[in-house]
Amino acid sequence: MIFEERKYTINGKELVLRSATNDDAEMLINFLKKVTGETRFLMMESDEADLSLEDEYEFLNKHNESDGAMLIMGFLDGEHVGNCSFTRVSGSRRYNHRANIGIALLQKFTEQGIGRLMLNVMLDEIKKLGFEQAELIVIDHNDRAKHLYESLGFKECGRYPNANKYDDGTYADDILMVKNFI
Ligand SMILES: CC(C)(COP(=O)(O)OP(=O)(O)OC[C@H]1O[C@@H](n2cnc3c(N)ncnc32)[C@H](O)[C@@H]1OP(=O)(O)O)[C@@H](O)C(=O)NCCC(=O)NCCS
Repeated sequence: MIFEERKYTINGKELVLRSATNDDAEMLINFLKKVTGETRFLMMESDEADLSLEDEYEFLNKHNESDGAMLIMGFLDGEHVGNCSFTRVSGSRRYNHRANIGIALLQKFTEQGIGRLMLNVMLDEIKKLGFEQAELIVIDHNDRAKHLYESLGFKECGRYPNANKYDDGTYADDILMVKNFI
């Protein structure tokens, strides 16, 4: 689905939120490489974030054209800060009421309230679309993200132990969180 451009003010700066177009594809590929290299709390290592332009076009079109997905990019005073997205948990009608959320910001834009704002906007969209619950996975020890999600009404509902094995041989659990709208 397309998210029509909206403007917000955050700490005196302009935050623009909008869907991506194919013109953003290269920037998004570079973003994924950079953001995965900055944190242990995303789903892959930076050297695995190796999308082709065609892969990225497909990814963007899937989010823009499907009625069960949306990708919102954020720009602070014109600089790309990161993205928030949702996809419908699909597979059968039984799962249609569930929306999966993901968010990632570049480190230099964290801790400024941007994540909270983008998630609030996304949660509003998901609710308006009639989803009954929002779901996400947060890697254990990502205390900032967990605090933010809990403050937005998400509750921990389970874990996959040792879901992540890092290159240095250490492990971290995936924590499953759900926010109910009904
Ligand atoms: C997680 C993320 C989306 C949060 O967005 P953000 O813009 O940095 O977060 P905000 O500034 O809106 O809010 C952060 C909150 O966490 C709190 N916080 C910061 N560090 C914390 C910590 N170590 N423990 C607990 N709370 C913490 C802040 O005080 C703030 O809470 P408050 O609003 O109640 O004061 C962002 O930091 C990010 O993308 N990080 C890298 C990738 C990532 O972890 N993605 C999430 C994968 S599940």
